[in-house]
Amino acid sequence: MRLSLNRDSRTPLFQQIAAHLRRGMRAGRLPPGTRLPPTRRLATELGVNRLTVANAYAELEAEGLIAGEMGNGTFVQGPINEAVAEVESITSLPDRRKGEQRWPRWQRQLTHTEQRPVFVPNPPKQRRGMIDLASGFGDSRTFPVDEFRKTLQMVMRRDGIDSVAYGDHDGYPPLRERISHVLASQGLTVSAENVLITTGSQQSMALVAQLLLRPGDSVLVENPTYAIAIDLFRSLQLKVIGMPTDSGGIQTELLAPLLEKHRPKLIYTIPNFQNPTGSCLDSRRRRELIALVTRYNIPLLEDDFVGDLRYDGRAQPALKSLDPGGQVIYISSFSKMLMPGLRVGLLAAEGPVYQRLVEIKRVNDLVTSNLMQRAVEAFVTVGRYDSHLRRTRRLYRRRRDAMAEAIERYLPSDVSYDLPAGGLFFWLRVPGKRKTATLAAKSIEAGVGVAAGRDFFIEGSDGDRYLRLNFACSTPQEILRSVKRLGNLIR
Ligand SMILES: Cc1ncc(COP(=O)(O)O)c(C=O)c1O
Repeated sequence: MRLSLNRDSRTPLFQQIAAHLRRGMRAGRLPPGTRLPPTRRLATELGVNRLTVANAYAELEAEGLIAGEMGNGTFVQGPINEAVAEVESITSLPDRRKGEQRWPRWQRQLTHTEQRPVFVPNPPKQRRGMIDLASGFGDSRTFPVDEFRKTLQMVMRRDGIDSVAYGDHDGYPPLRERISHVLASQGLTVSAENVLITTGSQQSMALVAQLLLRPGDSVLVENPTYAIAIDLFRSLQLKVIGMPTDSGGIQTELLAPLLEKHRPKLIYTIPNFQNPTGSCLDSRRRRELIALVTRYNIPLLEDDFVGDLRYDGRAQPALKSLDPGGQVIYISSFSKMLMPGLRVGLLAAEGPVYQRLVEIKRVNDLVTSNLMQRAVEAFVTVGRYDSHLRRTRRLYRRRRDAMAEAIERYLPSDVSYDLPAGGLFFWLRVPGKRKTATLAAKSIEAGVGVAAGRDFFIEGSDGDRYLRLNFACSTPQEILRSVKRLGNLIR
């Protein structure tokens, strides 16, 4: 490096070296990315002490002009003038930058990525007098809030500081034990050691996806399916492939060619009272599905979000209960059967995948709220849960029947549906020219929230003929009134 030092000057040598390098950067002689000579070599070249050069570098580093990379050397950073100018303009003229320009470049890039998920918009805010048939959960007016409050207080009194400690990563042991008993009473044998407590089914899905899937992998889902599952998989840059379905769930007889073609790394299914169609996978297809995933070596994620809310007919075996061993990951939660804000869910799996999921859970959020887990365990133990479930089933069955009656009475006869045997939803096929998204928007204006079919399809436009109505959230009177209004709009 050609650099003449004035040893008689009152400016210290390290500052002269720093000033020379600074000038070189500004003039473009030392562009960003240039590797500066090692301190020992430059010191020898200039005939100065090594410490002098080290001090010059330290000064430039403090100014952000150069940066050392461990074991690699010291590099010019840049582009300095633009960066300084940008920072100055942001700090001196904050209100001149409007809209997207307010944000640093790395943030602006986030809004322009090609593979961005098409997130389903938040449901419209509840207006006064609005009847909400669009929601995805039960009636919050019937949540056992007082009983749960008492349980929570009892748990804090009983467990003191233990109730607010972190707790075990895989969950509160008595709750895991309790869940294993509840599942056994439903014909599903899972040992407590294979139960992982999660912060809801949404987290369970995310953990499974994080462990098993990489960008570009294919995942098979019912088409239509739970909208936020599609969002989740898209956000991970997966190829989301739809499986054909009918009123008996996935058409397993058509599945083998899809498996051959896409070689999916996961199948996600909601076999009971599916969201949004309300359909139930029939028992022959359950067995066929298990045979297929075993033959093709594909993990099966079974989302049993409302399995306990059956109003007629015999319960079907959980896919997990047909599992020959380690093929099915079962997820469920207390969101629909109890209250969604508890954020307590469960995942059951066997084999190495279980331990790996525990590790992934730990790096995501350490643990699910210990206090909530203890309260849920206490609530479920004392039998209140069973009576709450029985009450809820009776209530929702009446509401389902009220909605079926209202549809028959007020909707045009060419609107078709299957009576759901459980769960929360009617899935209507609405013929005619008008798209259901437009109808849903008009319906909201008329004070009735309904969910447009397009939110649940991989290709949104496939949903233009469908509407999803929640029957669990409204009283029979509200259901009659709202379906009547909807009928007028459709006509
Ligand atoms: C099918 C399905 N799975 C999972 C979830 C997520 O539920 P959780 O509250 O347990 O995270 C929902 C929520 O609506 C759902 O409809």
